[in-house]
Amino acid sequence: MEFTRMAPECGVEVSGVSLANCSDSEMESIKQAIYEHGVAVFREQEFSPEDHIKFGRRWGGIDVNNYFPLQDDFNEIAVVKKDPDQQTNIGGAWHTDHSYDQIPAMGSVLVARHLPPQGGDTMWAHMGAAYDALPDDMKARIDELEAFHTADHVYKEDGLYAQTDMGKSLRGQNLKTGAVHPVVIRHPHTGRKLLYVNTAFTINFVGQTREESLPLLTELTNAALTETNQCRLQWKPGTVAIWDNRTSWHNAMNDYQGHYREMHRITLSGEALAA
Ligand code: SIN
Repeated sequence: MEFTRMAPECGVEVSGVSLANCSDSEMESIKQAIYEHGVAVFREQEFSPEDHIKFGRRWGGIDVNNYFPLQDDFNEIAVVKKDPDQQTNIGGAWHTDHSYDQIPAMGSVLVARHLPPQGGDTMWAHMGAAYDALPDDMKARIDELEAFHTADHVYKEDGLYAQTDMGKSLRGQNLKTGAVHPVVIRHPHTGRKLLYVNTAFTINFVGQTREESLPLLTELTNAALTETNQCRLQWKPGTVAIWDNRTSWHNAMNDYQGHYREMHRITLSGEALAA
């Protein structure tokens, strides 16, 4: 296997491996690369829905997403799609999947099934590099903080998506979510310190209101999104991306109006997070 960085601080492209048939030691190297770089990209993969599910189970389990439509014949696969006449896409803002769960999903395995002629890239940002680059006084300010995360404002009946043309295709509008996590976590496998707040699901710091929390949340978001911290993937048929939700944020570009895009996503089970 060969590992080539996608950007100075984020992402790695892995060649010389078939995800559907990788050995246990290849699987271990893939896991370590994703934990470390935040996202790994694999090209020219033959990866059927059965392979996708088998890979997710082999990694350590699948957390079925409560909101996205599911693939008819494979209910562990969430369908991330946008029709030609839709304006809004799923995941079109910086976020990390499922941070609103007390045991958030470890990561996601996203497979390109139908791509627009151009556009529809996905970007990631590395939260270890984001934390490292913070000034010492900011680190001291956030090291002991905890934050509250929820998805209710995004997915509920009158939530953000319901006000768009994406609302009707989603499920789970009645669910209630809420979780408290440290603002700075240690990666369960690498031990690296990571910034663990995100613009989509982090509402407030514990002990502060939303209004009191917003200035610091905005400051952390701006500090996290430096150019060297980010990588960008141009999808091609056969591309698979696997990312770590603790190490990275991601953002799906919505720049292909009038075209169809369909991706299949499996969300991998994770573990409780600690400072
Ligand atoms: C997501 O999982 O947030 C969507 C990513 C994408 O469609 O590129």
